[in-house]
Amino acid sequence: MKKVGIIGWRGMVGSVLMDRMREEDDFQGFEPLFFSTSQAGQDGPEVNGTSYQLLDGLDASLMLDLDVILSCQGGGFTSEIYPQLRDNGWHGYWIDAASTLRMESDALIVLDPVNRNIIEQGLSSGIKNYIGGNCTVSLMLMALAGLFEKGWVEWVSSQTYQAASGAGAKYMIELIEQMRLVGENCQNLLDDNEHILAIDKNVTDTIRSHRFLTNQFGVPLAASLIPWIDRAMENGQTREEWKGISETNKILGREDNPIPIDGCCVRIGSMRCHSQAFTIKLNQDIPLADIEAAIAEQNKWAYLVANNKEATINELTPARVTGTLDIPVGRVRKMNLGDEYLSAFSVGDQLLWGAAEPVRRMLKIVLEYID
Ligand code: HSE
Repeated sequence: MKKVGIIGWRGMVGSVLMDRMREEDDFQGFEPLFFSTSQAGQDGPEVNGTSYQLLDGLDASLMLDLDVILSCQGGGFTSEIYPQLRDNGWHGYWIDAASTLRMESDALIVLDPVNRNIIEQGLSSGIKNYIGGNCTVSLMLMALAGLFEKGWVEWVSSQTYQAASGAGAKYMIELIEQMRLVGENCQNLLDDNEHILAIDKNVTDTIRSHRFLTNQFGVPLAASLIPWIDRAMENGQTREEWKGISETNKILGREDNPIPIDGCCVRIGSMRCHSQAFTIKLNQDIPLADIEAAIAEQNKWAYLVANNKEATINELTPARVTGTLDIPVGRVRKMNLGDEYLSAFSVGDQLLWGAAEPVRRMLKIVLEYID
């Protein structure tokens, strides 16, 4: 029976992955081994009635007989353990959700509803590294792949509204703490609408106070936003913005002929759904009905939301989408800029299609391939 090592299963993305694997009854047909970088020897998860003891995730020698390693541990772990494994002759399949290996020539970025053909070519040609993409990129492609597949896209500008979860669990907790402080400080003022300027001043004073909790974000996110995600690139983009063009074109197998993609990535106070507003330059005047059909037919998770207030506020929000695999695409319309300019908005769960789901599905694909 094939052996699969699972690492980082207790973290935020790893927990979502474990939940999805249990939901889909994925723990079949292989022997799972669970690793931990801090709790080796302790009890691990129980799966299908079997309790697993944790193996040492920092001891690469314990992994050399694994057929597949699936890591949700983060880039630091990949940087440390992956080279040791390959240097020691390990030929197994490496699947992770970190950015460390994504752009390497011997790795593919996986999003099988969009690039299953490229994944299959990769398996046949002996590629052994399959990496989940950046969440914003994966969520954009789940929404718009139908337009890319038709060859209609000349360029895309994407303005993002990214959830706290993209930064990590500690950041989500800090956002909630910030919201709590804002609410508590002004609660005695809330009953009287006429005091709105006093309430507003109270909120402003709270978030500007030097005692306001900003250990993670460095600045307030509650009652504010942060138009910067990840580190600076030399061209003025952030790394999150740079991933838009580089990872999208790699996923689509277009690195030699890239479609320009750029925009501004912004952190907002949603918990785990990233949203994006797209301006899409089409290379011809495609009828709106054809555009809508292409989006909705590309995969079974993307669906059209009618461009009216009722449908939009009920369907096209983080509050509606969070915790689901749904990819609603709405506000689809031609723009005043011209008939070849399309506007659209999409929302997706950053921990599901943005992180755990592509690697969960890739594990199944690899196991079927090597069976
Ligand atoms: N870098 C993303 C973010 C999440 O900060 O929202 C991971 O892809």
